[in-house]
Amino acid sequence: MDKDSRNGRPIGTGDEGQVFIMGTNNQSRRPDRRWTTKQTVSLVSVVSAIIVIIILTSVAVWYFAGYLQEKAEESHEGNDEKVPRVYTGYFKLKDMEFVPELESRSSMAFNQLSWEIHKKIKNAFTSSSAFASYYNVSAVTAFSQGSVLVYYMVMFQVKKSDLELLQSLLSVDIIREFLMSELTRDRMTNHGVFVPSSLTIYSSDEKTALLIQSSCSKTIRVGSSPVQFTSPGFENDQYPPNSECQWFLRGSPGKQLQLNFQVFELEDDCSQDFVEVFDMLIPAKNKSISLECGKQQPGSLSLTSSSNMLLLIFFTGNQHNFRGFKAKMTQLPASKCGNVDLEAVEEEKNFTTPFFPSHYPPNTQCVWKIQVKAGKRIRVVFSRFELEEPVEEDVCIKDYLEVLGTRYCAEQAIFAVRSVGQTLEVRFHSDDFLTSRGFLAEYVAFDPDNPCPGKFACRSGLCVPTIRRCDTWNDCGDNSDELDCNCRSNEFTCGNRNCIESSKYCNGHDDCGDGSDEACNAGSTCTDKDFKCLDGDCVKKINPECDNQPDCSDNTDEENCDCGMRVYQPTRVVGGQDAEKGEFPWQVSLHLQEYHASHPTHTCGASIISERWLVSASHCFQEGGKDPKLWKAYFGLHSQNALDDEEVVRHDIKRIITHGSYNSWTYDFDIALLELESPIRYTYQIRPICLPAMTHNFPVGKSCTITGWGSTKERGPAARVLQKADVNIMNDTLCKKLMDGDTTHRMLCAGFLEGGIDACQGDSGGPLVCVELPSGHWFLAGVVSWGEGCARANKPGLYTRVTTVRSWIYTNTDNEV
Ligand code: ARG
Repeated sequence: MDKDSRNGRPIGTGDEGQVFIMGTNNQSRRPDRRWTTKQTVSLVSVVSAIIVIIILTSVAVWYFAGYLQEKAEESHEGNDEKVPRVYTGYFKLKDMEFVPELESRSSMAFNQLSWEIHKKIKNAFTSSSAFASYYNVSAVTAFSQGSVLVYYMVMFQVKKSDLELLQSLLSVDIIREFLMSELTRDRMTNHGVFVPSSLTIYSSDEKTALLIQSSCSKTIRVGSSPVQFTSPGFENDQYPPNSECQWFLRGSPGKQLQLNFQVFELEDDCSQDFVEVFDMLIPAKNKSISLECGKQQPGSLSLTSSSNMLLLIFFTGNQHNFRGFKAKMTQLPASKCGNVDLEAVEEEKNFTTPFFPSHYPPNTQCVWKIQVKAGKRIRVVFSRFELEEPVEEDVCIKDYLEVLGTRYCAEQAIFAVRSVGQTLEVRFHSDDFLTSRGFLAEYVAFDPDNPCPGKFACRSGLCVPTIRRCDTWNDCGDNSDELDCNCRSNEFTCGNRNCIESSKYCNGHDDCGDGSDEACNAGSTCTDKDFKCLDGDCVKKINPECDNQPDCSDNTDEENCDCGMRVYQPTRVVGGQDAEKGEFPWQVSLHLQEYHASHPTHTCGASIISERWLVSASHCFQEGGKDPKLWKAYFGLHSQNALDDEEVVRHDIKRIITHGSYNSWTYDFDIALLELESPIRYTYQIRPICLPAMTHNFPVGKSCTITGWGSTKERGPAARVLQKADVNIMNDTLCKKLMDGDTTHRMLCAGFLEGGIDACQGDSGGPLVCVELPSGHWFLAGVVSWGEGCARANKPGLYTRVTTVRSWIYTNTDNEV
């Protein structure tokens, strides 16, 4: 009896008349279908058959239970547990005619041929002294034209402790050599002649072992009109647990297939439920085009094949069943992506990777040659850029774009390239592995003497509307639109970036309009309101940190200022409550594994303050949340439904430091530091927030921003997409009164007397941030702590005042932050 290696279920037999083998006991047998039709079966034999089945089943169950227990014990003390090793590939039989019935896994032709070939493969392994004891099961899973291509899968089972020893025996090269020589000897003369050079073999993921005998297999063929298919149980709005299904998708030779998911609703955790699509009829690891879980916008996920075949597999875990998917498959003429000649003119035109914004097909090479008339140059702006496979150490060897000798890969914020002369060549390459949306490139001719008429010319080569200059957003990608935003030398730069004559500074009149020219702390002695430089000097100006103007003679007010800045993202929209991707790159989502839950879920927010440290609220780590091992920190996260997005990074927590004076009754000193197990790498979507100096002033009335995935109303559901809202800093005395005296100096109030906008459950630990102009740096003013209900009138939100715990943070991060 064979066992499901994944979650302890016995593997069912294939319907559709699929042929397979139960491995090691060698009792493989072809399912015999004749008795139902041909023989008159007596009652006695039916009854005895039932009894035999019952006995067999109970023996099997008993054996199975014992096996499970044994397995549990083994995995406790050692690694004698067996693990599957799965391989898949194809080979060619020549001098054999491909008949359309071979596409249908329930046809006689399919069954006969697959059974015969399967026997040969099985025989090869079971009669080899090297492989026999590891061989478990194999199957011929599909055929295609040419003369006949045979697709197969093989599984071995190996003790974990032997894995290392067997590494070379079970390498694809050795298995290929072995199979090649065995099948060459056999020649398979009854069914065409085996062509040794055609034999390929790939390794396949362990989980695909279940597909070898899956009873949930379908073949779908598309012709001139699209076809639709759905996951099992779709009509009941719920897929069954523990499924392992596969769809063999086929089109006509010379065409490409495009799959569009009109409904896609799966569990968020891809290790439980997922859809994976392969650019071939077999689940070879390196032919995977995409692995998806969670929810997708209807119609937003499209995948394209490089030839006329795809394999879609669908696995579900043992709980949390969702609606599933509905896919539409279309046949497209093969994409033309060869040499394309383009002419750049004044008016902007564009080109894209094939099928953009659907996924580009694997194995694609395109070249665009752009020309421009004499005296002009070419600018190409890549406003969307998403290629697959993040690469190690920034070398682009998988899918990439190449232009002017530079390769670009993975995901990029908007960027531009400019030609040096009158021509520019742009190349795109995709390998046979994962694919993504690709890029959108806009090309235009420009005058080198006036590259951005009517716009601001970034150093990066982009042109941005002049109103985006000095708006605190890095629109250029290299921040050049946010430099030199200060006034002339004889002028004072106001907090709102207005310029006034220097002589009006501290004249008793609000010339700026925001009071910033009247915040003058004249006097020669240090007061505790003054910013202190490391050398002991005092700066009278308010909030001199990171304002791009050196105030300390030792420059310590302008050190460690690579924080609180964000990078323009192509998806930027104005208004709305959903945050934009990358708008709050310091925001962290903390997931807690609760005792009864199957997997960790979002519980609190936090902020990045350095590559190793996060700030959050102490109250998040009471009782069930004390153990750092129970938490996972997500960075670069936008939607809780997209934990697997490639820009999202997850880290373990090494240490939780809660404040020694934290009071769980009053929420006084509600602050905590989390040390990460390993440092984070900053990206466009992952950046730190600036910590304010102890003396930093966040004035009453200032509009600041709160963000989080907490409830969107009191007792309401948690948000999926990161939410943002602006709240005003409130007067302490007023706040104390509103909160019946329950506040301390460590608490800062923000919100509106009329209510309506507030943080809520699930936002705790997250940031309250304020931007300082003109520098555009964002500072962490508060940490979401508590409130009475949410968004009620006269009940503002309470935040831990970061300035009051600034030195505690410094000391407890080993003076790092
Ligand atoms: N304590 C809450 C949490 O754990 C945050 C409450 C914030 N409430 C408010 N009304 N501002 O998520």
